[in-house]
Amino acid sequence: MCGIVGYVGAKECTAILVNSLTKLEYRGYDSAGIAVFEGDRIKTVKAKGKLKEGLIKKLENEPHFTATAGIGHTRWATHGEPSDINSHPIGNGRVSIVHNGIIENYRKLKEFLISKGYGFESQTDTEAVAKLLDYNYDGDPIDTIIRTIADIEGAYSLGIMFREHKNRIFAARKESPLIVGKGKGEMFIASDVTAIIEYTREYYLLEPGEVADITADGVTFYDMHKNVIEKELQVATWDVSAAEKGGYAHFMLKEICEQPDALKKTINPRIKNGLPDFSECGLTDEKLRSYHHIYIVGCGSAMHAGMVGKYVIEKLARTPVVVDIASEFRYRDPLLAPDDLVVIISQSGETADTLAALKLANSIGADTLAIVNVVGSSIAREAKMVMYTLAGPEISVCSTKAYMVQAAFMYLLAFRVAYARNAIDEEQCRQLISELSQIPSKVQKCVDDQTQYQKVASKLISADSLLYIGRGLDYALSMEGSLKLKEISYIHSESYAAGELKHGTISLIEDGMPVIAVATQHDLYEKTMSNIKEVKTRGATVVMVCSEDMKFDGNDVDYPVMLPLARDLLMPLVAVVPLQLIAYYTAALKNFDVDHPRNLAKSVTVE
Ligand code: F6R
Repeated sequence: MCGIVGYVGAKECTAILVNSLTKLEYRGYDSAGIAVFEGDRIKTVKAKGKLKEGLIKKLENEPHFTATAGIGHTRWATHGEPSDINSHPIGNGRVSIVHNGIIENYRKLKEFLISKGYGFESQTDTEAVAKLLDYNYDGDPIDTIIRTIADIEGAYSLGIMFREHKNRIFAARKESPLIVGKGKGEMFIASDVTAIIEYTREYYLLEPGEVADITADGVTFYDMHKNVIEKELQVATWDVSAAEKGGYAHFMLKEICEQPDALKKTINPRIKNGLPDFSECGLTDEKLRSYHHIYIVGCGSAMHAGMVGKYVIEKLARTPVVVDIASEFRYRDPLLAPDDLVVIISQSGETADTLAALKLANSIGADTLAIVNVVGSSIAREAKMVMYTLAGPEISVCSTKAYMVQAAFMYLLAFRVAYARNAIDEEQCRQLISELSQIPSKVQKCVDDQTQYQKVASKLISADSLLYIGRGLDYALSMEGSLKLKEISYIHSESYAAGELKHGTISLIEDGMPVIAVATQHDLYEKTMSNIKEVKTRGATVVMVCSEDMKFDGNDVDYPVMLPLARDLLMPLVAVVPLQLIAYYTAALKNFDVDHPRNLAKSVTVE
């Protein structure tokens, strides 16, 4: 949802800014731009489109830059269409800003500024902030920024330059994430650490309501009363190569292939003496016994991982679980009580609706457990308890390995809840953990042979629309399969509970329409098979993703995808891999930009 970068140091900065922006392109790619101190002025170059086709091409036609400080932006459009004029940085020669988030009261600010004689060129909410900074400017940049952000409402992070304060950049934040990187004789700002890890691992987290004043020599942080704040330096521990494609055609393919490793990294440290262990976040058995209800809340794939959690927790622990889409949960006045547990799932830890749902749960006094991938993110810091999925950075906009480890966490939680509530005994719990530990090798098997998925994908590329069907856990998984496919291949698809088809949706089936049936649950197999026959007799082309021991009539299934055997309960972790790879190859065969699907962004910091 827009990426911000900034640099102050001794080096020529345009190449650094552009390089950092390439690492943030997953946050939005409608346009990109930079502003740098060139001579006595602020020079801005910006262009519609992805970096390569827009900004980078434009910069090739510019004279050589000598600037050593500047800010940059990659945009996911909210207010105003993607265009050169709506691109950031936005300013007026005296002030230049980059912005991530939404300024809710921009109309009011704009009217006020127009009454003071300001003209507006763009359709963005950002321009109101740039002009308000100019209006408030009194020679002291910190006073000016504090006065300005006191007047703006919404969620935002900002990178700011004033022409009169050469080689100095400023940052401010409310909600949308921003970090300040500390190098040797050089400093950075960025929406996240992937943008700057090539240059430094050390960074400060800017908190809401704080302002940073940054020069090549260091940074001073202020609160809204202009008091200086001391902050702790953080160190990013992950490998730089994790944010590189490493020979793969796309990040998505790389991240699918990393799943066995991501699973091991996430699961293994959470097993103590053969049992799932939540002591690192203080979630005791006593607490698990005391909760009346368990809610699981997230968006998109994170919510789908929660659906797997619901099936598994209810099955093993016989405890009711409500799964909610965060944007619904936050506004539906949920029946939450202080003796409930709300599990919040998020890869980025910054999703605006999920963060709001978490704050709501906290305000009601419920216990909150965040399962988050990005260390130090807003959701991780806001939750009462946090456990990190250790998938490493997920760069592709389309989530794969993050979903995998979120789902794996659901199993750890389900086993522990069931054990704490005496729904399973210690031996059963150990057995489940031992089988979960074998899942990475089964996932590896699915990843190793990709030819069958390419074959299925080649049959899907000409489809306009298709259905995913399944029952029970297979239905939960179908939701994720369907989302993956539509998100990156732009083929319309829906997931349906297989038994529900005949109540309306089956009328969509016509000759040659693909139906992807997920059938990994032995107790439901015959039922799902009947539904497969129903669509087959109406002309569907059936792809069936099933366990390798399942028998079927060759006339019912056009393309079987056989999976290594695991306990039925654990099969979603295995079966999701073919669904991811079928989606990947379908989009790749269509020559789409798999890692940057249209209209999307990785980190959705607006509601
Ligand atoms: C789909 C996808 C999204 C995210 C959703 C939540 O491939 O990536 O549906 O799962 O936007 O994002 P996080 O997990 O960052 O809260």
